[in-house]
Amino acid sequence: MWRRKGEADQVKGKQQKQEDPVRVLLIEDNVGFAYYIRDALMRKHAGQFELAEARKLATGLKILKQGSIDVMLLDLGLPDSKRVETFSAAHAASPGTPIVVLTVLDDDEVGMQAMRGGAQDYLVKNQVNEILLVRSIRYAVERARIERALHRLSARLLQLQDEERRLIARELHDTTAQTLAALSMNLSLLNQRASQMDPETRNLLSQSVTFADKCSAELRTMSYLLHPPLLDELGLTGAVREYADGFAERSGIRVDLELPPNLRRLPKETETALFRVMQESLTNIHRHSGSRTASIMFTQENSEIRLDVKDAGGGIPRKRLTETPGVESGLGVGIVGMRERLRQLGGRLEIRSSPEGTTVTAVLPRGGEKC
Ligand SMILES: Nc1ncnc2c1ncn2[C@@H]1O[C@H](COP(=O)(O)OP(=O)(O)OP(=O)(O)O)[C@@H](O)[C@H]1O
Ligand SMILES: [Mg+2]
Repeated sequence: MWRRKGEADQVKGKQQKQEDPVRVLLIEDNVGFAYYIRDALMRKHAGQFELAEARKLATGLKILKQGSIDVMLLDLGLPDSKRVETFSAAHAASPGTPIVVLTVLDDDEVGMQAMRGGAQDYLVKNQVNEILLVRSIRYAVERARIERALHRLSARLLQLQDEERRLIARELHDTTAQTLAALSMNLSLLNQRASQMDPETRNLLSQSVTFADKCSAELRTMSYLLHPPLLDELGLTGAVREYADGFAERSGIRVDLELPPNLRRLPKETETALFRVMQESLTNIHRHSGSRTASIMFTQENSEIRLDVKDAGGGIPRKRLTETPGVESGLGVGIVGMRERLRQLGGRLEIRSSPEGTTVTAVLPRGGEKC
């Protein structure tokens, strides 16, 4: 239930009000602490907040589903959910809503765990005061806003990267590759007169033919890796098949491919995202896993399409999965890029890894609607 500031406060509130009130959802079963929060937000900071309250996680999630919550204050010890699972459930129910976790003193580590899982902040109940509370809420809302802007930016960057790759691939094909083809033709004409040449010239010519062929092959591979032409023409099925064959040949890794027989064309962004995930996962298998085999499996389930790329290599070092990538750290951006691509289309990336091997799973809605 929403609790608004009292009538009497409204006149004063109007004068002070510069922004809309922040809509807070408090999920807390401790009545005394809930009272403390209500008093701090609704009386001492009248006009700045609206407050909805729930005593159980299930009730809180119902309110959350109705939308229009700016930030959640979440106690991790509720009658129907305990510890970090509480956070995971709330986060999954509304991934875009910032969460400030409330913990008790000896649960500091749980708070940190929630932060690693995506909580904006955590407050230790016995140490919280009104200033800390308000600052934490405002900070969480602002940080979530900045994160949303960053996500929009990275979506645009990935889109531009795809467009640019497509453009460069076409340019390479239409210009340099054509010139090289003309060069090869001239060289083969010259080759027809090889009998009239001295051995040294003949040798130079034959080397030049080999170089020109090698150049053509490299250019074709480069243009293909930048943007597989079959993805536009035949869609995912054709492009994946061709890519997997080429990869197996180049790397010597055996690739098993399983595609649903009735896979229809999907929206362009969905096909590109799935193709790029498969490409990056195979590259990672080749570069990092040491596996001699790889399997690619696409499955359709009702409204979702799922891709599993599996290897039997040494697994991803645990440390790598939790480190933050970036130029300074020297870590790659492959996994982060895959995750971001899928997130933008309303999907998700899951990675299971052990010393027996790694499975990268991408799940996307079939429609690929943008979130
Ligand atoms: N299939 C795998 N098997 C074992 N380790 C892996 C596998 N995939 C990824 N890794 C590990 O995870 C790290 C991060 O992978 P990621 O794709 O993000 O970056 P990268 O491959 O190092 O660089 P980039 O993709 O930016 O060229 C790798 O450096 C590697 O240590
Ligand atoms: Mg990589």
